[in-house]
Amino acid sequence: MRAEGLVKRYGNVVAIRESDFDIRTGEVLAVVGDNGAGKSSLIKALSGALVPDAGTITLHGRRVHFHSPRDARVLGIETVYQTLALAPQLDIATNLFLGRPRRRPGVLGSWLRLLDHRAMREEAAAQLDALGIATLQDIGQLVGSLSGGQRQAVAVARAAMFGTELIIMDEPTAALGVRESDQVLELIRRIRDRGIPVILISHDMPQVFEVADRIHVHRLGRRAAVVRPHDVTMTDVVSLMTGALSQDADGRLFETEVAKKRHEGHGPATRD
Ligand SMILES: Nc1ncnc2c1ncn2[C@@H]1O[C@H](COP(=O)(O)OP(=O)(O)OP(=O)(O)O)[C@@H](O)[C@H]1O
Ligand SMILES: [Mg+2]
Repeated sequence: MRAEGLVKRYGNVVAIRESDFDIRTGEVLAVVGDNGAGKSSLIKALSGALVPDAGTITLHGRRVHFHSPRDARVLGIETVYQTLALAPQLDIATNLFLGRPRRRPGVLGSWLRLLDHRAMREEAAAQLDALGIATLQDIGQLVGSLSGGQRQAVAVARAAMFGTELIIMDEPTAALGVRESDQVLELIRRIRDRGIPVILISHDMPQVFEVADRIHVHRLGRRAAVVRPHDVTMTDVVSLMTGALSQDADGRLFETEVAKKRHEGHGPATRD
């Protein structure tokens, strides 16, 4: 997927400021940036949750127009939002098929619209198994009774079931402990290994360096840089986020005036 010149304004606030974006087949692309940089707005534009005021989005080179998340989902683009959008009063299997229920075959399904609970349970169990999600033992357990990490696993599994082209995750580990976060990272790797690209918004720099193939740095509403974790340090990425470092057209990083002025105030300019 590729986007060019995306713009989104909310009154006087410019959430996306002529931003570009691209993600390639089979990669995990981390999107990092300060609070309010416009990361969530960007991925909402890519997932149909908001309609940009300007700019173009293409998928496999073809222009797409999303007017709702539904439009994106039809094309196999699934999003796990920061707020998980699960139904706590329903069980795991039903949550996995939320909005896309399997119906019983024949007259029962098409006329009486009876749900095929058995098929959904079997498919749900198979899917969790395929993703190596061992933390969920009973597919019939109510989501409301699950732990935070388990809920996250359900949300990710649901995206993985229907996301055939692209899976977008907005801070999927923000509320999780170390072990649960590791499980989500493992899930992300498994999805990538299936050949499906993943966009991961995260504030957790070690995590980003562990799982990302490339890092998109967002600053002041636009893409400020794209780097590979092998080529840069975490300090570099933080400096790109704050504007102390910038990236030239050849991908090289250089100190900005902001950084130089800061150094002048603090003695000689040295950078590790
Ligand atoms: N619905 C809205 N109405 C008005 N302003 C908004 C709306 N959504 C986002 N904004 C503004 O757009 C800017 C970008 O917000 P966004 O949520 O995309 O940032 P973010 O990078 O995801 O931040 P965070 O890391 O805190 O999640 C912010 O200044 C925010 O206040
Ligand atoms: Mg956000």
